[in-house]
Amino acid sequence: MSAAADENPLAEGLRLRRRPDPCILVIFGASGDLTEKKLMPALYALAFRHLLPEHFGIVGAARTEETDDEFRERMKQAVKDHARDEFKDEIWEPLAEGMRYSTLDFADDKGEDALVETLTKLDAERQTQGNRVYYFAVPPSAIATLVAEIAERRSAEGWIRLIIEKPFGHDLESARALTAEINEHFTESEVFRIDHYLGKETVQNMLALRFANGIFEPIWNRQFIDHVQITVAESIGIEGRAGYYESAGAVRDIFQNHLLQLVAITAMEPPIDFTADSVRNEKVKVLKSLHTPGPKHVVRGQYGRGFVEGEEVRAYREEEGVAAGSETDTFVAAKLFVDNWRWADTPFYVRMGKRLARRETTIAIQFKRAPHPPFEDGAAEGLRPNVLLIHVQPNEGISLAIGAKVPGQGMTIRTVHMDFLYGGAFREGLPDAYERLILDAMLGDATLFTRSDEIEEQWALVDAMVAMWQRDKTSFPNYAAGTWGPAAADELVHKDGRSWRRH
Ligand SMILES: NC(=O)c1ccc[n+]([C@@H]2O[C@H](COP(=O)([O-])OP(=O)(O)OC[C@H]3O[C@@H](n4cnc5c(N)ncnc54)[C@H](OP(=O)(O)O)[C@@H]3O)[C@@H](O)[C@H]2O)c1
Repeated sequence: MSAAADENPLAEGLRLRRRPDPCILVIFGASGDLTEKKLMPALYALAFRHLLPEHFGIVGAARTEETDDEFRERMKQAVKDHARDEFKDEIWEPLAEGMRYSTLDFADDKGEDALVETLTKLDAERQTQGNRVYYFAVPPSAIATLVAEIAERRSAEGWIRLIIEKPFGHDLESARALTAEINEHFTESEVFRIDHYLGKETVQNMLALRFANGIFEPIWNRQFIDHVQITVAESIGIEGRAGYYESAGAVRDIFQNHLLQLVAITAMEPPIDFTADSVRNEKVKVLKSLHTPGPKHVVRGQYGRGFVEGEEVRAYREEEGVAAGSETDTFVAAKLFVDNWRWADTPFYVRMGKRLARRETTIAIQFKRAPHPPFEDGAAEGLRPNVLLIHVQPNEGISLAIGAKVPGQGMTIRTVHMDFLYGGAFREGLPDAYERLILDAMLGDATLFTRSDEIEEQWALVDAMVAMWQRDKTSFPNYAAGTWGPAAADELVHKDGRSWRRH
């Protein structure tokens, strides 16, 4: 526990988590970006807070040749570069002692044998009882092969959990096929599909806000809410990942997973308890009741040249590895409807894209206007409707826009904001999503992971949108980098007499 948490009474709950069983975490893709930037820093943060199992080991595996010592040294540097806590030898050394590396090509059986040998030895040394968490930080095409290999070499001892990165499939058919292949060997309770947005504190706080407070739920419906706006905006481009992005586009990269999960969490009914199945049962009902937006309710975009944070950036079609005439979307906006009693006719306007003006993920719940403000003409001119704004990132927090009287003579009303900022209230820095998710998987708690039926509903919607786009005549590029997307995205909202939240 850090010093800040020790003296912070609000961090009390952090101490109540039980410790996972002894286990070894096997990372496939240990030479990759995700391992260096996210997984290893998250493991260090867990070690820093004494949340890892007492008997624990880490085995990295990838094609790159590396010795155990080289692997440890590279991971040490990754922690120094990317961890949120200061580097301390007394935290690092015990963690590094249990680290091994195994060179492995998925296509090759020899590597698998060596990995099993490493695991067996480490098991004996670290008393990890045959328990394994396998993290698949590898290209999606490798997953089925690896899963079959793991199943074939499964020992009688211990439990197995599989953490699978997104994307899970690239359409409904491939996602179903992958689930079927995994289910040949493992049960759903052994599979943890990551959507790292669900590990974010602010996303979980949406559940706390809605279900721990008596005041929001009674007004969380079509009678009081005019509409919902969800924005997932990135200012970065594709960061050298053209190979992946050209076949995915914005719709598969973010819309299919993070964005639809935010819709589900915003719109879901209260679960009867906070177990994995109860929460996921409610989310899947929302995803099932989303109806496919027609062509007039969807806008696709692709960025051209422009300026982001004062710097000139190139067009998507000029990025390395992107085809000169690429039709890939880097932006999607849509008007979605959740067809149930709570939400019928309440639009959920959603937008997401790359090279937008600013990095921002927000959920804005816009309430209906007061029915009859009893003020003189002009007194409430500057007053906007109440908005509950959840800042998922950055500046994590919640803000409520309300009307208040301007001090002085007479009655003039303006909009002001009541703000709750995580940094201010809890003092301790927010954990990274991966910390929470790795720990939950070790504990066998799948509440914050996506179940196969959720993934399938998400793909069904995206497949229908993509099929509709075959007839789409939008010419690209249609927005300049550094703006908020194509003009048609504004039009989508303006034609309903509304506008995107001011930036
Ligand atoms: N980076 C992120 O923030 C992020 C976010 C969400 C999801 N993801 C997903 O997570 C996965 C990993 O991402 P990444 O950014 O770490 O990718 P990456 O940097 O390209 O790393 C891929 C890893 O897979 C290994 N690999 C590939 N083919 C292999 C083979 N035949 N045998 C053994 N190892 C093989 C590579 O090892 P060698 O190079 O040594 O062969 C490397 O360690 C991807 O599926 C990605 O979609 C990443």
